[in-house]
Amino acid sequence: MNSAEPTESDNNPNNSLDPADWSAYRDTAHRLLDACIDRLESARDLPWREPESPALQSEQPLPVSGTDLASLSQQLIDEVMPFATGNTHPRFFGWVHGTGLASGLLAEMVTATMNSNCGGRDHGAVYIERCVINWCCRVFGLPEGAGGILTSGTSLATVLALSAARVKTLGPNVRKQGLRAQPQLVAYAAAGAHHCLEKALAVMGIGSDAMRLIATDGPSGSLDLAALSRELDRDRANGCVPLCVVGTAGSVNTGRYDALDQLADFCQQENIWLHIDGAFGAWSVLADSPWSSLARGIDQADSIACDFHKWMYVQYDAGAVLVRDAEHLRAAFEDRPAYLEGNDVGLAGGSPWFCDQGIELSRGFRALKVWTALKTHGLEEFGRKITDNCEQAALMGRLVEAAEDLELATPVMSNVCCFRITKKAAGTRDIDELHRVITARLQLDGVAALSTTTIDGRTTFRAAIVNHRTCAEDIDLTVASICNQIN
Ligand SMILES: Cc1ncc(COP(=O)(O)O)c(C=O)c1O
Repeated sequence: MNSAEPTESDNNPNNSLDPADWSAYRDTAHRLLDACIDRLESARDLPWREPESPALQSEQPLPVSGTDLASLSQQLIDEVMPFATGNTHPRFFGWVHGTGLASGLLAEMVTATMNSNCGGRDHGAVYIERCVINWCCRVFGLPEGAGGILTSGTSLATVLALSAARVKTLGPNVRKQGLRAQPQLVAYAAAGAHHCLEKALAVMGIGSDAMRLIATDGPSGSLDLAALSRELDRDRANGCVPLCVVGTAGSVNTGRYDALDQLADFCQQENIWLHIDGAFGAWSVLADSPWSSLARGIDQADSIACDFHKWMYVQYDAGAVLVRDAEHLRAAFEDRPAYLEGNDVGLAGGSPWFCDQGIELSRGFRALKVWTALKTHGLEEFGRKITDNCEQAALMGRLVEAAEDLELATPVMSNVCCFRITKKAAGTRDIDELHRVITARLQLDGVAALSTTTIDGRTTFRAAIVNHRTCAEDIDLTVASICNQIN
């Protein structure tokens, strides 16, 4: 299939896919980098826009012949970049989307240049990942012998953590023999725990019905230990075997925390694996008081799943699984066919290999953007931003309480504020629909991006603030705009 137009790699003396003219490539790359930096610098003026451009059409001619990089680069600037999710904007509070960091742009250039495969072997990228894992274990107070790997996010980290728990609970043969001859495993978490737990149980063949959602204790909002104990007794009497108890550090809907220290004591007494879903909330350990103690007890976890792409503001995607005794992770995944044999020296050296601690053999160099973020800002600065976000959620809560037409759906505990329109203000209008309409209006007008959820059977606005660009004025403007839309 010959192209009529010359493309980048045409006339390349090495006949590779490299640019034929490195100097032209350099100019194009510099222009594109400038456009990226412009975009980051102007983040406040660039909210989400409806995706609409020629490049975004799903039906396009097959790219049988190539395009020159300069015009492709312009297309990225004009037709792709403007249609981002909008989570780079300071009034993006929807779902739990982190903002991204300027350091990430630089790290990603280096990552792409190195093109490392972090499944294993002995090269720089795996050392950076080992360093990031080591830092995380220290931040969360895990002991010597702890380890883990970076993942695409908490969902995958949960599968890996629960797989380690499964091998610990049932023994290594479960890897070969599966669950056929095994008792039913069950897992416990407070109501409101993230559905990635059920998905993990489903993909592991345990089945999502094995997830026992336990009531929370009214005043503390933490998993009710007495109810957990009753459910556990019932399950054991029925021949089920506990796989794990999951403590939530920052629930997705409301930012609620379980009393992790009490869960840890319970799990120790009952000899059950304690997994902590700390997708965003684990990082509250870096915040100032009172939020710094929300995740007290996290250091007792057998495993932790957490993300950098949420409350550590690192670019997507980047999460981690950390296991108190990394041998359990290796027992669940270590498996080297002959062609992956290690060596004492050379590129096949080094240990451990990350492919022995997860299901992916080929893995990208996610660690660099995390390492760069941590080195650029330091834990103290992250702690300050996390504290700011908690203060902003509290401010939003106060503004809601002061607004005539709004009320809080739940108390603000960390960085999540859920609130709704009062029945009186909605009048005869469909109140659930009104929340959805206003949420969409604010998004379409580029004012603010919140999402909605259901609490106690009623639709509410939900702001999950994991945004280092937000300031108090953004919170004022968001609440005021909602009030304006109601009437
Ligand atoms: C508490 C909690 N757990 C798990 C997840 C899933 O994480 P990820 O999207 O990184 O897979 C989320 C996502 O929002 C979450 O908030």
